[in-house]
Amino acid sequence: MKKILFVASEGVPFIKTGGLADVVGSLPKCIDKKYFDVRVVIPKYACMKQEWKDKLQYVTHFYMDFNWKNEYVGVLETTVDGVHYYFIDNEMYFNGPKPYCDDPLWEIERFAFFSKASLSILPLIDFKPDVIHCHDWQTGLVPVYLKERFHDGDFFRNIKSVITIHNLKFQGKWDPKTVQSITGLPSYYFTPDKLEAYKDANLLKGGIVFADAVTTVSDTYAEEIKTPFYGEGLDGLLRARANDLRGIVNGIDYDVFNPETDPYIVKQYSAVTFRKEKVKNKRALQEQLGLEKDDKKMMIGLISRLTDQKGLDLIAYVMDELRQDNIQFVVLGTGEERYENMFRHFDWKYSDKVSANIFYSEELSHRIYASCDAFLMPSLFEPCGLSQLMALRYGTVPIVRETGGLKDTVEPYNEYESTGTGFSFSHYNAHEMLNAIRYAERIYYDRKREWNKIIDRGMAADFSWNVSARKYQEMYDWLIGY
Ligand code: GLC
Repeated sequence: MKKILFVASEGVPFIKTGGLADVVGSLPKCIDKKYFDVRVVIPKYACMKQEWKDKLQYVTHFYMDFNWKNEYVGVLETTVDGVHYYFIDNEMYFNGPKPYCDDPLWEIERFAFFSKASLSILPLIDFKPDVIHCHDWQTGLVPVYLKERFHDGDFFRNIKSVITIHNLKFQGKWDPKTVQSITGLPSYYFTPDKLEAYKDANLLKGGIVFADAVTTVSDTYAEEIKTPFYGEGLDGLLRARANDLRGIVNGIDYDVFNPETDPYIVKQYSAVTFRKEKVKNKRALQEQLGLEKDDKKMMIGLISRLTDQKGLDLIAYVMDELRQDNIQFVVLGTGEERYENMFRHFDWKYSDKVSANIFYSEELSHRIYASCDAFLMPSLFEPCGLSQLMALRYGTVPIVRETGGLKDTVEPYNEYESTGTGFSFSHYNAHEMLNAIRYAERIYYDRKREWNKIIDRGMAADFSWNVSARKYQEMYDWLIGY
């Protein structure tokens, strides 16, 4: 049995701020249990729902040398859907009201602690992984500590590591002296060929340099990040590591996102029945959100973290034109204040057409996927994107910018060949986006049969984890050396 350990800063169902949590919560379930024993370690955040905290069982605790102190490390565990989870407990580090905070130095200290603790617990829980699978900058120090601090001593010998980049934008940077003091790593590591980048210590860079393999969450993003525009300053390093860098596209949990069984939606439907049944969800959502009740009106959804990455300035730019169209626009999500206020403003100004829901609700998100006719994702960059996969699964036609995973998972509609599962545009330009939306409107209103065939093809596409989980398994096997 090969042993794999996921180390991550968030995971469904325990804690979620974005797509990373969906991946950490669903991929381990889909790795073949006949050959792999996959376990996951995440922090024990005080802000987790009580219902989940109640399920955790105490395993052990000890004190770890960290940042010139002896820090308490508690270990708890539980099993969900056959996957074993460990939780690192330390109240000073993980008791905030949210999993992340705005102080970059404190973030570095917290996740350096978490990374070191994740390795330190292994002998105590008697689990020696063959591969440690790290995710994003928060776990970038795991491969570094693994190679350097833990390399002597039999236990850690031969453990391989891989880091998956879900978002290159976040890297965990601070001045090298401070980071060196916190992490306890020798000054030798703080040079431009190791942790240093542009005079800062950079935790993600440490992970990329020291991991045995690097992956990201789509083929196109794996190519894009080797260029200056998408490379966030690390494109040179990623070009240098091109042989060890691969893209494996994310999947989604097909049991959770299933319009045939979804308990959150008003009317379940399938690839066979959507023509008649899906609209009942729209009707209910119009009622719930106080929008005009009209079965025929094209409803466009947007569910997103409200950040620069997501292309929301394009929407701001053309909203006054878009509201002249015969559509309804439903938004769900939280994030940067200026985007939250922008959508609140549009909701107030165009209350008959726009519904801005500035909070997050898993239940409402499912209802929006089920109710809308189209789903908008004009991202500036998008490593994979999961919402477009959920939209496809619910027969909701994605309108996307051709970047990262959006390009790899949404095939543009071609009216001459009758192919494609969505609509797309290439440049980061508001009117190109508007053109794509208006093209979709024309097909929706004037050629309904064609529209429904787009849905047929989208619902038939397979973005479960089946294919991608096999690719991760192959990579683990390759790393282990079979
Ligand atoms: C990040 C990326 C998103 C990706 C997700 C999971 O949230 O922004 O594109 O789908 O990670 O990998």
